[in-house]
Amino acid sequence: MKNFVVERWSPALGAEVSGLDLDAALRGSDAQIDEVVDALYGALIEHQVLFLRDQPLSPEMHAELGRRLGELAPRHHSYTTLDGNDDVAVLTWEPGNRPDASEWHTDMTFRPKPPFASILKAIELPPVGGDTLWASMYSVYDSLDTGFRSDLEGMEICHDPGQFRNGAYERGGNQGITDMLSEAGSAVWPIVSHHPVTGRPYINVSESNSRWIMGTGAAESQRIVNYLLESINRPDHQVRLRWQPNTIAIWDNRASQHYAVADYPKYRRTMHRVAVDTDRRHEASLAASATATA
Ligand code: SIN
Repeated sequence: MKNFVVERWSPALGAEVSGLDLDAALRGSDAQIDEVVDALYGALIEHQVLFLRDQPLSPEMHAELGRRLGELAPRHHSYTTLDGNDDVAVLTWEPGNRPDASEWHTDMTFRPKPPFASILKAIELPPVGGDTLWASMYSVYDSLDTGFRSDLEGMEICHDPGQFRNGAYERGGNQGITDMLSEAGSAVWPIVSHHPVTGRPYINVSESNSRWIMGTGAAESQRIVNYLLESINRPDHQVRLRWQPNTIAIWDNRASQHYAVADYPKYRRTMHRVAVDTDRRHEASLAASATATA
């Protein structure tokens, strides 16, 4: 069952997984499911984002896949969820609406504990367009010259909910923004963060959510942030997915960012997303090493 094929798509990140029927795999015994999900997790850590074609998972099985990776995230503060299944966020953009994910971001880095992984399934797509790109923030870090890398060491940046202000303002005016900011929160991260599993350094600055470098003024913050954002835009760090209905992408939210291209103004695009808060396997290995050293 776990003998699926993993084919790398770009030197920076991304791989397609074939020869795996997720629905069938998730209906096995616990031991069989763990074997498959362990192998998928290993591929996820190595490639940062995995693409699986032709996976008509029901919303329940979609959420179940998430649960096998870890504890699911709480309900999103702005997206609606599926009727009868709060674990599945529905990301729909109607014709004429401006999609809000067409900027580089890591999901929910304004939370003190952003989700470790996201599982996105394509439901309804434009005839062409609506692709998603991912960027490896390891690759961005590795591309910086060593002097600049050491300048960034020790710098911290504040992440906030960015353009979720738009919907909050439409719904509730000034108070709507204040309420949304207080519900969603903000969080400060080292610009050079380290992946908890691989230990590799990556750049933790995103177009959507990071503006303010702590201890600096607006001009200095903006200069450094702009330089880093220009680096993310280089195709060298990216992989691009052309979706088909029932394509699933699973990404490690920690050292990658993604960008949903908004090039389908006349069409509807609907995706289902399950966000996984905790990395069950990493937590288990931390607990095992704590026990071993106690
Ligand atoms: C997201 O930002 O999680 C959604 C990406 C997409 O719709 O392609």
